[in-house]
Amino acid sequence: MIVGLDIGTTKITTVIGELAGDGSVDIIGQGSVPSEGLKRGSVVNLERTVQAIKESVHRAERVAGVKVESAYVSVAGNHTKAITSHGLAAIRRGHEITDTDVHRSIENAQAVPLDPNLEVLHTLPQEYEVDGQEGIKSPVGMHGVRLEVDVHIVAGTAGPLLNLRRCVQEAGLRVDGFVLQALASGLSTVDTGEQSQSVIVIDMGGGTTDIGVFRRGNLAHSASIPIGGDHVTADLAQILKIPMEEAEDVKRRYGAALPEMADADLTLEITTGQGKTHALSAQELSRVIKPRIAEIFGMIRDEIDQTLGPVELIAQNVILTGGASKLRGTPELARDRFRVPVRLGKPGNIGGLVDIVNGPEYAAGVGLVLFGLHEDGRLVAPAPLPLPEPEPEPQPVKAPLIKSRKDREPEAQPQPAPQRAERPRPAEVQSAPQHTEPVSAPVHQTVVRTSPKAQEQPSSADHKPGLMEKIRRWFSDWL
Ligand SMILES: Nc1ncnc2c1ncn2[C@@H]1O[C@H](COP(=O)(O)OP(=O)(O)OP(=O)(O)O)[C@@H](O)[C@H]1O
Ligand SMILES: [Mg+2]
Repeated sequence: MIVGLDIGTTKITTVIGELAGDGSVDIIGQGSVPSEGLKRGSVVNLERTVQAIKESVHRAERVAGVKVESAYVSVAGNHTKAITSHGLAAIRRGHEITDTDVHRSIENAQAVPLDPNLEVLHTLPQEYEVDGQEGIKSPVGMHGVRLEVDVHIVAGTAGPLLNLRRCVQEAGLRVDGFVLQALASGLSTVDTGEQSQSVIVIDMGGGTTDIGVFRRGNLAHSASIPIGGDHVTADLAQILKIPMEEAEDVKRRYGAALPEMADADLTLEITTGQGKTHALSAQELSRVIKPRIAEIFGMIRDEIDQTLGPVELIAQNVILTGGASKLRGTPELARDRFRVPVRLGKPGNIGGLVDIVNGPEYAAGVGLVLFGLHEDGRLVAPAPLPLPEPEPEPQPVKAPLIKSRKDREPEAQPQPAPQRAERPRPAEVQSAPQHTEPVSAPVHQTVVRTSPKAQEQPSSADHKPGLMEKIRRWFSDWL
């Protein structure tokens, strides 16, 4: 049994897997709970994080009917430093290259001075070169006098790793190993065909967006952007003057990363903390969202351009994972920005209860299990199985959004099915107060202007100050 513990900014997920008789991996349990003790991938509240880990593990244990004692734990890329180092080993003339020679070349690459505050997490050899001949996967048995290798070394910052370790241990588990989130996400989503190509895996989480560039199945480059889906939520909360919880709900139900992907027939009515009600079309909503997602993709483009070269030249494909990639129109916007094919990455390379991890937000959790099996030597390389059938794209919800304190329903009650709204004429949109009467519509949480939780969320204005100003200008009439 191998357990993955994905400690994220938004949720903590435990995935339990085991090696099946045919050498593939079966998922046998999953438990996911909201995470409130982290900020941008860092533990900021030990107690809350420990509680959430315990709960997530218990849930997965109940599904699998097993007791978990240890886990592979994810580390967000913003706590890591990655370098690619070159190693060289001389081979005695007339001798075949052995495993020992390969280890020597890797050790040589590892001999780089690292900040004492860093702990090496991964030493990932890329392809080998024998007497100048490149692109060799396994040089053992070959003849030559000069064996060279590029090794991607990923190291984590000691402080955040110590905090993570402490939380996991206080939750009663041992840490089997720390795994870079982007590596884990790639292990579960890069499929067999892509293992011979160069692909970029972008894990769009709540607090960070982690990037992994995989060349012929090896992680060759990694980076992290300190912006994620929660920043989109914070933008909406600020612009629409509603609390974070409500902005999250609006984003998930009606949001789109591209105005042309938003429902042209849909108008939302939003009641602010001051009790003012405004009408807002779904397309206008997506005009608030788009710049932030475009900013994330722009930062990724810049990062890759500077380190590896233009995206369209270095990659055949982009895979989007993480919960924030579920926002309607996100793959389309990515396609537009990166100019290469883009797809959503749901965990594949697995069997068993695939339906309980069938979403891009589970890519890292499942990847941790695949990493564990691989590292244990029980799986030489993830044995890819056919990816699960893609789910039909969610249809835009067509309903007016009406909120008021007296309409609030208990959280546990199912939401009534949203109804299609008549498209208001422009004049009606202007005279928004006419729409304040509650009619049959999805009911949202009470608006509380100064929710204490809202204060803890990422500030929507902490990157590119000009961005919020631009959005505000677009919405100046409305506000
Ligand atoms: N259906 C959806 N539509 C739009 N956004 C969504 C949807 N579901 C989840 N999200 C967003 O995904 C983000 C959380 O993604 P995920 O669960 O991968 O994060 P995490 O792993 O906890 O965070 P991180 O990796 O940054 O530490 C949140 O910002 C959430 O708003
Ligand atoms: Mg994550």
